Amino acid sequence: MKLSIVVLLFLVSSFHLSLSLSLSQRYNALFNFGDSLSDTGNVVIAGLPYGMTYFGHHTGRCSDGRLVIDFIAEGIGLPHLLPNTAKNASFHQGANFAFIAAPALPFDFFHQRGLSKGLWVNASVHEQVDRFEKLLPSICGAPQECKDFLSKSLLVVGEFGGNDYNTGIFGGRSIIEVSTFAPHVTQAVAEGVERLIGLGAVDVIVPSVLTIGCFPLYLTLYNSSNPEDYGPKTGCARKFNALSWYHNTLLRRQIHRLRQKFPAVSIRYADFYAQGFDFAINPLKYGFKDGALRTCCGAPGMGKYNFNLHAKCDQNGSSVCPDPATHVSWDGIHMTEAAHRIIARGWLHGPYVDPPILSSSNS
Ligand SMILES: *[C@@H]1O[C@H](CO)[C@@H](O)[C@H](O)[C@H]1NC(C)=O
Ligand SMILES: *[C@@H]1O[C@H](CO)[C@@H](O)[C@H](O)[C@H]1NC(C)=O
Ligand SMILES: *[C@@H]1O[C@H](CO)[C@@H](O)[C@H](O)[C@H]1NC(C)=O
Ligand SMILES: *[C@@H]1O[C@H](CO)[C@@H](O)[C@H](O)[C@H]1NC(C)=O
Repeated sequence: MKLSIVVLLFLVSSFHLSLSLSLSQRYNALFNFGDSLSDTGNVVIAGLPYGMTYFGHHTGRCSDGRLVIDFIAEGIGLPHLLPNTAKNASFHQGANFAFIAAPALPFDFFHQRGLSKGLWVNASVHEQVDRFEKLLPSICGAPQECKDFLSKSLLVVGEFGGNDYNTGIFGGRSIIEVSTFAPHVTQAVAEGVERLIGLGAVDVIVPSVLTIGCFPLYLTLYNSSNPEDYGPKTGCARKFNALSWYHNTLLRRQIHRLRQKFPAVSIRYADFYAQGFDFAINPLKYGFKDGALRTCCGAPGMGKYNFNLHAKCDQNGSSVCPDPATHVSWDGIHMTEAAHRIIARGWLHGPYVDPPILSSSNS
């Protein structure tokens, strides 16, 4: 009896090993598009304590350590992604086109609405895909060779949208007006995915936006004395989460449409929102002892959320909590490495990407 269990365990673990080996060999490269949630060095603005937990110096990542995309790279056996602007680099195992502060929509969209003052990078979905298209020949040669190359690559398109909505909200527009951006934003993401498919992508992950109503930044800036404005179980700001939810509903519709148009391509939704919501409802389940709504690196003692716009992380007057792993929020907008690790696990192994990235069923 005992022996057979040992044998069984051995079989299970060697099966697991060969499975993960074959899976990690499945992808030759990883390409990412997005904003500060996944920028790994195209824009480097802040200094330490950004990077303190893992890299020991600031790499441009908006966190204390690794991002979701770093854990995805590790999970599929590829190196951390270099920013596409890296000098003298080899991009044969992938590249990252994400830019801090990138909206999905182009400059003109905001300019027409009197909102372009709030923008400081031009790196919309289409502009990021343009850069990818320009870089491709140096990686894989002629278009047909690149199709073969990309047929073995994983592409992650997003998260996009957070900065489009920030630009409207910080520009003083009502949530109703900002909601009217969502059909444009999700359309732009879908167009980007479609262009990538045209270049040869066959395996695409499209992340949702986060629970923006749970960001300490929004909770602090748009606080309210009306308890009805907050989710009873989460404490998050309802109207901002409703905006996220609306965006994500439209995004799923676009994905559905693309799947019907391109049945041979795997296009998977990655649910940042559901995981963020669960962090807010069950923070202790994940070891987030200080709840999900207090910033680790910020202004300690400032209101309920430890956040002060004038003493942000790495600015004068801010300080870091003793253990970032006990917090969801790193700096009021971006999450800690600990939160990213949990999110990536849900994408690699389920349930927040379906089928999960490391499943054999879709290989
Ligand atoms: C570029 O990379 C090559 C190979 O890694 C190295 O030998 C060379 O010194 C690098 N050039 C510059 C300018 O960094
Ligand atoms: C973005 O593009 C617009 C229009 O082409 C230009 O006016 C603006 O200066 C650019 N912004 C940046 C930060 O490059
Ligand atoms: C909102 O935040 C401001 C600034 O911290 C504070 O003065 C005010 O009392 C808060 N309002 C409510 C309703 O909590
Ligand atoms: C931060 O504080 C230091 C020392 O008090 C001062 O020299 C510096 O100018 C301050 N920086 C900012 C951005 O306020």
